[in-house]
Amino acid sequence: VSQRLEIVARAHDALAPTYDAKLAENPVATWMRAQLWAHYARAFGLSRARTSGVRLLDIAAGTGADALHLAEAGAEVVAIDVSPGMIAELQRRAAVRNVRLEARVMAAEALGNAPLGQFDGALSAFAGLNTIDDLQRLSRDLARLLKPGGRVVLHALNSFCLWETVNGLLHGKAPRPRQEYTPIGGELLPHRFLDGSTVWREMFASEFACREVYGLSVIVAPTWVRRAPRLAPLALRLDRLAGRMFPRAGDFFVLDLQKCAR
Ligand SMILES: C[S@@+](CC[C@H](N)C(=O)[O-])C[C@H]1O[C@@H](n2cnc3c(N)ncnc32)[C@H](O)[C@@H]1O
Repeated sequence: VSQRLEIVARAHDALAPTYDAKLAENPVATWMRAQLWAHYARAFGLSRARTSGVRLLDIAAGTGADALHLAEAGAEVVAIDVSPGMIAELQRRAAVRNVRLEARVMAAEALGNAPLGQFDGALSAFAGLNTIDDLQRLSRDLARLLKPGGRVVLHALNSFCLWETVNGLLHGKAPRPRQEYTPIGGELLPHRFLDGSTVWREMFASEFACREVYGLSVIVAPTWVRRAPRLAPLALRLDRLAGRMFPRAGDFFVLDLQKCAR
């Protein structure tokens, strides 16, 4: 394991006990999670009567919000994360909820050597992708791990955020690239901010078709929702629209890929 990954693991070990509570306090994060769950249901066919045969891989699964939800919906889930603290938290929650899934302490960078079998789909949510070193390698590994036609849903921090830029301008700050270092669990973690379409074109296009890319949290910031909760439902509906019109302007993007059938 590289020194960089050790820092990523250490930071998230420290974050693990409070991660769920912190996310629950953020109304935009909660909304994004609901958007993702609806997207998974569509992409992985989970709304159909027969979900039990669907095998999914959750990369950088954290405390397992998605992995546990998908397992409860009937999918067979393998969850990996580089942080032992996060995986321990995931397993604790799985036991409490009586959910069966396979959880492993493993970096995304190690997927190439892992005998995990074949998957119908893969996902990675809430910025795990921003601290994965080599996305081209991830693309090759996913192409090997996925069945033809298999879907990959990625949710990661975007390189430009409209509301953040406008907020900055209102406070007299000139637009600048987003911080490359994010404080997590007492560490300053290097995050690579990404652009969904570019990630597809430069990293995934040889093995995957792009089904959809859109932004989330384009015009709505968490502080605004807290200040005007009554306007939030309408604002978030508009945000969905803005995200589709301006896929490169959200705090996060969602990228939905499909492995080419060969
Ligand atoms: C902010 S959490 C998100 C967790 C979860 N996916 C969610 O939606 O709540 C990011 C997670 O990515 C994991 N992670 C970051 N880089 C990773 C890597 N290169 N390989 C595996 N896990 C990684 C961290 O340990 C952390 O648990």
